[in-house]
Amino acid sequence: MARHVVAPVDELPPGSRKSIEIDGRPIMVFNVKGEFFGLLNRCPHQGAALCEGPLIGLASSSDPGEIEYTKLGEILRCPWHGWEFDIRTGQSYCDPRRFRVRAYPVNVEAGTNLVKGPYVAETIKVAVESNYVVVDL
Ligand code: FES
Repeated sequence: MARHVVAPVDELPPGSRKSIEIDGRPIMVFNVKGEFFGLLNRCPHQGAALCEGPLIGLASSSDPGEIEYTKLGEILRCPWHGWEFDIRTGQSYCDPRRFRVRAYPVNVEAGTNLVKGPYVAETIKVAVESNYVVVDL
């Protein structure tokens, strides 16, 4: 599995989202209260761009007239027909056995782990001795 840089953490503050394309696949990344999640940006129903939908909570009921909201900000509602998906897993709440959105792991890594490319210039040791800059070949 290849790693791909999405953005500096400062560009994705809590409550924000970003859609990108990786190897031809539309991906969306969300920052929910400091946790990052990635989903395929395509609804399994009719292909809407899920990143345009709102993040809501999960409504459940134990008794008639009693509605409780959990997972606040963790359920993504499709902007076209309202199917709902858990952004942690991609699970659908319309038909969990048949439909899900592919979820991708998202991590925060130090830049020093990512910037080492194959193109490295030859380095030469330089020192200052008394008042002279000295190159060590
Ligand atoms: S395209 Fe997403 S619910 Fe229909």
